[in-house]
Amino acid sequence: MEKFNASISYDKAMWKQDIQGSIAYAKSLQKANLLTDEESQKITDGLEVVKSEWASQSFVIQPGDEDIHTANERRLKEIVGDVGGKVHTGRSRNDQVAVDMKLWLLEHIVQLAPHVTKLLEVLVERADREKSILMPGYTHLQRAQPIRWSHWLLSHVWPIVTDLKRLRSLYSRINVCPLGSGALAGNPFNIDRENLAQELGFDGVTKNSLHAVSDRDFVVEYMFWASLVSSHLSRMAEDLILFSTSEFGFVKLSDAYATGSSLMPQKKNPDSLELIRGKAGTMTGNLCGFLMVLKGLPSTYNKDLQEDKVKMFETACTIMGILQVAAGTVATLKVNEDVCRNALSEEMLATDVAYYLVKKGMAFRSAHGKAGEVVKLSEELGCALSQLTLDQLTKISPLFEDDVSSVWNYEHSVEQYKATGGTALTSVNTQIAEAQEFLQSF
Ligand code: ARG
Repeated sequence: MEKFNASISYDKAMWKQDIQGSIAYAKSLQKANLLTDEESQKITDGLEVVKSEWASQSFVIQPGDEDIHTANERRLKEIVGDVGGKVHTGRSRNDQVAVDMKLWLLEHIVQLAPHVTKLLEVLVERADREKSILMPGYTHLQRAQPIRWSHWLLSHVWPIVTDLKRLRSLYSRINVCPLGSGALAGNPFNIDRENLAQELGFDGVTKNSLHAVSDRDFVVEYMFWASLVSSHLSRMAEDLILFSTSEFGFVKLSDAYATGSSLMPQKKNPDSLELIRGKAGTMTGNLCGFLMVLKGLPSTYNKDLQEDKVKMFETACTIMGILQVAAGTVATLKVNEDVCRNALSEEMLATDVAYYLVKKGMAFRSAHGKAGEVVKLSEELGCALSQLTLDQLTKISPLFEDDVSSVWNYEHSVEQYKATGGTALTSVNTQIAEAQEFLQSF
């Protein structure tokens, strides 16, 4: 049971936050006259010693240390004597663990955000550099319409921009201090919770002690965030895995982000991207797993909640890796401009044939049908669309004229999409400028 109950093996990751919380709490007790100045100083000094032991990796975990809170308090009492027991006055591990986790997560988010930004910079920078490259765009994995490679890159920027905004708003929701809620009923010693929260860098205090010790929404939200970001990156990874096959050949991963096969000498496997795709599954599993823990719990603290940390730490560590490897993989891959362009085929201009007829005054539905006839004819004759004669085309519709030759041009095709968000150069440039502006202002 002791082994089953203990969380020290993983919650020791919060040693710093646990001590930070205790030092601030001791100050509050001092202000509320529950500790003399001397006692408070002794406790603070003792906690600093405990902190330095953790920092220098000389802290020795003892068999009875159930979790980080009991371990730190046990050690504090060894250093300062019985007075160490006063730091827990009116406090419970229930409010203590909640504050530790929030402090830990806030610090983690501060470290994580630059990695999200870095990935965005890599994508935007590439998009800016490689605007002239055209490639097929797909729906249902079927060749659909020509697009710019930069437009594809930027399609992965915008979801992550929103993820970054979500992370910021999530930060402000986490940033509310639960310490001073006690086990469940509140704090009976009239400590100044607002001041305590300020001391710890929080924006405010939780409003209800029962809720404060039950609440793990911040863990759920964070894991949802990680799950969403990683599924965005999984989509990008899946595209790139396909693009890197010999069948597509659009991109080539750098050796640093690929591996060889132990058996087949010619292989270059996109492990980086496959792991991003795979770990996105793990991220969602963590979210769902912890939601299952929460569902059906009664109010306030129940030991089930201890399951939160394993998931939160794993998520934090994994998402950090996903972001860094995604940035590295995208930054170092080579895009094969010629292969991308050669993959364009004239049937991808069928929509443009319809638009040509629309511009000549035909209703889109009819134009769609006529363009279909054009494609069918070219298939029957076994020739490309551009090889059809004006004679053959005018038999399908008299609206076809000499200028139809302008349709057989991929640049012309992409340049039609000038409305905001399209694949025309001006629209792509606008996206790049807006993304850069966002990155500068964030
Ligand atoms: N190790 C516990 C956790 O992680 C700390 C809180 C324990 N509280 C309690 N009443 N047993 O959730």
